[in-house]
Amino acid sequence: MTFSSLTGPQTIFLRKGDLQIMLVTTAEIFRDSEKNRYAIGAFNINNMEILQAIIETAEEEKSPVIVAVSEGAIKYAGLEYLSAMVHIAAKKTNIPVAFHLDHGTTYDVIMKCIANGLTSVMIDSSSMPLQENITTTKEIVKVAHACGLSVEAELGRLGGIEDNINTDERDARFTNPDEAKTFVEQTNVDSLAIAIGTSHGLYKGTPNLDLKRLDIIKKLINMPVVLHGASGVPYDQIENAIKLGVNKINIDTDVRLAFTSGIKDFFSKNPEAFDPRKVCSSAKLAMKEVVREKIRAFKSNNRL
Ligand code: G3H
Ligand code: ZN
Repeated sequence: MTFSSLTGPQTIFLRKGDLQIMLVTTAEIFRDSEKNRYAIGAFNINNMEILQAIIETAEEEKSPVIVAVSEGAIKYAGLEYLSAMVHIAAKKTNIPVAFHLDHGTTYDVIMKCIANGLTSVMIDSSSMPLQENITTTKEIVKVAHACGLSVEAELGRLGGIEDNINTDERDARFTNPDEAKTFVEQTNVDSLAIAIGTSHGLYKGTPNLDLKRLDIIKKLINMPVVLHGASGVPYDQIENAIKLGVNKINIDTDVRLAFTSGIKDFFSKNPEAFDPRKVCSSAKLAMKEVVREKIRAFKSNNRL
């Protein structure tokens, strides 16, 4: 796979300083995954160790990768810190890295992401009625596209999927295929996150994805599809979802779990330890294992 426009129009220049930084957009990353039917992991970061674990593993696995920051991560670490780290990581590696805002909810945060050199933003107006969601998303697409960024939007509702949910409730929450078609035609988004049975955070039972719905939506919209809440989803379902055209798979919880278990494990073996470098190295190793497992399950390894 070649990413010919690494130095093309999508190249982002940091506003402050004179570093010319190379990142790719998600639209660009999706091109090859759409053609060859694999998915790219979008991993959330909150600090340097998480970022390093993701980039090092993607590099070892020869995989493109999407680094995502949420509004929560921005509040915790600061957008300038996060952005500087991701830009340096992208500069030091030779794998394609896209830098993405996850679940952006306001015009304000999206403008700040544009100003801080992200290459992709998600506008999440999925809690709004369809028409409002379309209007809001359209507005963001206009500005983001003018600045060379890709845009992801969401249609349908994730979360709180109970085992005993009935068909009518599933229908009301999950993405409606005809609405999805109207939505992408009217908004001109680059990718669409859909609700087909995944949920953010830890699952109570085993998720059961509505793959038939995914199949119908993909055929209708014929563009990159995003799966949120993918931590804890069994790999056989992930594999089928990829075959049916999912291009981006969001992972946060499983990396968080690895981070904390790496630290707990370290202290159980070294109760007297107090060197943060040793503590964080253990967390990093645990995260790398999880990221590797995901990259292989998403089949984005050995693509470069
Ligand atoms: O937007 C982020 C993801 O949807 C993460 O979901 O925490 O279930 O992995 P997760
Ligand atoms: Zn999500």
